[in-house]
Amino acid sequence: MEKPVALVTGANRGIGFEVVRGLAERGYLALLGARDAAAGEEAAARLGAAGLAVEPVQIDVTDAASVNAALAVARDRYGRLDSLVNNAGVLLDEGVPGLEVPVETVHATYEVNVYGALRVAQAFAPLIVASGGGNVVNVSSIMGQLAYAGPGYLAYRSSKAALNMITRVLAAELKPRGVRVNSAHPGWVRTRMGGPAAPGTPEEGAAPIIWLATLGPDGPTGGFFGPGNQPLDW
Ligand SMILES: NC(=O)c1ccc[n+]([C@@H]2O[C@H](COP(=O)([O-])OP(=O)(O)OC[C@H]3O[C@@H](n4cnc5c(N)ncnc54)[C@H](OP(=O)(O)O)[C@@H]3O)[C@@H](O)[C@H]2O)c1
Repeated sequence: MEKPVALVTGANRGIGFEVVRGLAERGYLALLGARDAAAGEEAAARLGAAGLAVEPVQIDVTDAASVNAALAVARDRYGRLDSLVNNAGVLLDEGVPGLEVPVETVHATYEVNVYGALRVAQAFAPLIVASGGGNVVNVSSIMGQLAYAGPGYLAYRSSKAALNMITRVLAAELKPRGVRVNSAHPGWVRTRMGGPAAPGTPEEGAAPIIWLATLGPDGPTGGFFGPGNQPLDW
């Protein structure tokens, strides 16, 4: 039987790398997205050496030509896409008060976390529909929760809140076409973004994302889920 195919953006390191590993372990052909082609090839080779079906794909989510080229690879070489994980993200305003954060920093954050994720979802959704339906997972954060927002991280928080709204709108539009769209919070985990003081491992952070990426037709859509696959307030 043909393997299901998944694409994970920003997967050359951190949480995305572990999501690729987990999906490949669950029988997916996992496309390891990386904006730096060499970094993607090196990361995919490490997982391939462990016997996993992982292929590198160059994809810079801020670059429409790169996204379209990645779409062509998925469509022409593999013929389908069952799961898309919008994992690529940046945190550019750590320690900067919202009253002082340069608007350029907010813009640069949105380029990846908001416009990038939307660009990739818009490009790949038709292929997921044509493949008979599947899952889109937007890797968000509890930092994007409106309910518990506090000071600082204005660019990052608001980008993830916007991403959560993108989840809700696309979930409503894609539900009749058999595609579930959910937001995931991985927990605070030790990656370059999360830093060395974070309590969790990247593998733990990947768990709720992998769950959402592998949902069947009866799975939830338009939701926000965190560690332990628990639903979160918006
Ligand atoms: N770590 C945490 O505690 C935590 C908590 C909540 C949510 N998250 C979210 O989880 C996701 C993964 O974070 P992480 O902790 O694994 O971070 P990370 O280790 O910093 O990895 C971020 C990944 O995103 C990629 N990326 C950045 N800009 C990109 C672009 N324009 N196009 C394609 N890829 C791009 C990076 O590529 P390069 O290697 O080329 O830079 C890298 O592969 C992010 O969306 C983040 O907001 C993380």
